[in-house]
Amino acid sequence: MVSITLPPLLAARWAALQERLVAIADAHPDALLASSMGMEDTLLIHAAAHLPRPPGVFMLDTGRLHAETLALVEVVRARYGIETQVVRPDPQAVRAHVMAHGEFAFYEDVALRKVCCGIRKVEPLRRVLDGHTAWITGQRREQSLTRVELPEAQWDETFGLWKFNPLACWSADEVRAVVRALDVPYNPLHDRGYPSIGCDPCTRTVRPGEDPRAGRWWWEQRDSRECGLHAGNLSSHGQPGVRPRVPLSKVITETSTS
Ligand code: ADX
Ligand code: SF4
Repeated sequence: MVSITLPPLLAARWAALQERLVAIADAHPDALLASSMGMEDTLLIHAAAHLPRPPGVFMLDTGRLHAETLALVEVVRARYGIETQVVRPDPQAVRAHVMAHGEFAFYEDVALRKVCCGIRKVEPLRRVLDGHTAWITGQRREQSLTRVELPEAQWDETFGLWKFNPLACWSADEVRAVVRALDVPYNPLHDRGYPSIGCDPCTRTVRPGEDPRAGRWWWEQRDSRECGLHAGNLSSHGQPGVRPRVPLSKVITETSTS
């Protein structure tokens, strides 16, 4: 464990996070950490890097990410010696979609937007998770209507493995405070009005007082703004899902034989 200087409440949060990551690694040594290189993810990388057995880290490079996001792969390598696995979409599928619908079809139609996310994000995610028993994300409940019921641990029906969201109950202020206190590298776009960062053409800055995810697919209805990576956050009607919460310790115990 790394020695840190944090106010007592944040220090407790941080210690609990590290314990959870250790428990996840013990139960699922093959767990992978999904990093979009947003602030939550570099915080998780920082926490994981100091563990005895850090999980593998991957990033889905959709081909439409900001240069600032891509640059963090090298920052993470230099700072932590962690090689992020960069996973790309099938180039033929991308080409066929662009030829058929153009580079910006996602603005025209939600269905076409979902096809683009399917090709550039969901299929590559399925590929990278194949054969693994668990993955770890930086999602938080506070982030959106679709995440208010986000459990810390859940069986991911979509991809067929366990999914851990160890920052589920963290607030944005807590994430920012720990990132600052521990000098965790973070995406400079966060300081330029982007609380949530996805693909360049599908993310805009947010104005003061706006929802933190207001800049993601901003032209769509608020409660359907998920790209398929976290499809379980929506019910079959496309509405925010409501599921029972399972305590993380219980899930880890019950899945430790997988
Ligand atoms: S998204 O589904 O709307 O794009 P969001 O940007 O809020 O998700 O990120 C939530 C979590 O999903 C991140 O903390 C990360 O674990 C994972 N994630 C999102 N985008 C990517 C990506 N491009 N590569 C890897 N993981 C990602
Ligand atoms: Fe395509 Fe936009 Fe989805 Fe990125 S976020 S995969 S550019 S629709």
